[in-house]
Amino acid sequence: MTTRPSTAGKLPLTDLAAMKRRGEKIVMVTAYDYPSGRIADAAGVDVILVGDSAAMTVLGHDSTVPATMEDMLFLSRAAARGAARPLVVADMPFGSYQVSTEDAVRNAVRFVKEAGVDAVKVEGAGAVLPRIEAIAGAGVPVMGHLGLTPQTVTALGGWRAQGRTAARAHQLVEDALALERAGCFSVVLECVPSPVAARISEALTVPTIGIGAGPDCDGQVLVFHDLLGLYEGRSPRFVKRYADLAAITLDALERYAAEVRSGAFPEEAHTYAMPEEELTLFRSAVG
Ligand code: KIV
Repeated sequence: MTTRPSTAGKLPLTDLAAMKRRGEKIVMVTAYDYPSGRIADAAGVDVILVGDSAAMTVLGHDSTVPATMEDMLFLSRAAARGAARPLVVADMPFGSYQVSTEDAVRNAVRFVKEAGVDAVKVEGAGAVLPRIEAIAGAGVPVMGHLGLTPQTVTALGGWRAQGRTAARAHQLVEDALALERAGCFSVVLECVPSPVAARISEALTVPTIGIGAGPDCDGQVLVFHDLLGLYEGRSPRFVKRYADLAAITLDALERYAAEVRSGAFPEEAHTYAMPEEELTLFRSAVG
């Protein structure tokens, strides 16, 4: 793989708020390993999210709930090694910040110390607010996540847009303001009607990052496997597919398999020779 090496240093976290003030859109994408981290960096992406969507896209589960701390640390470590300039945000998996504030801080610190990420992301408001305050207070920057929060998708009644009544939309605005007060440096808005996301983006001083939340968020995020056509599960309407890598990969693997079976691979160019006299000696030694 050849990618353009990153020349700039790490994007300062405070630049995200400055980008919002300047009206410059923030680009975020998920990545779960070294090559995807490298490619996202080479493409000029600003923020890499090691999302717990990896439970579905990489590990084959049917929701994000089974992701463990060890899964997320392993994936985050690899992605962070590949990403020099982008800020790397690790998703705290379900169960890693819900049980106690002490647990939440301990687990957030593990991401920074053991995986080398720059920040963590947690889902929800309400009972999660004290956890955010404690994590941010311990010096680990926190990204919030409102709207369709996949870790609690069952409680939300399924994979559906949130904030579609006036009362629920108002609650989302209140929750977003509470996340900012609790210390979040940014808030993801997932599957929220565009006018609601626009209102929240206007109300907050920290940037909003939308996924299925319309064009007025301060930035956008998509799941790596969705935008590259590598995930064949649920495909929400907000996904735009920029490539069909599953088809390209399938074609390459089918051609490889056919060439192995026919003997067309490997060719001369893929093999190693040895000096003629050494070959003669070798043949006489082995008879
Ligand atoms: O896990 C994830 O990939 C996410 C994004 C969809 C925001 O939380």
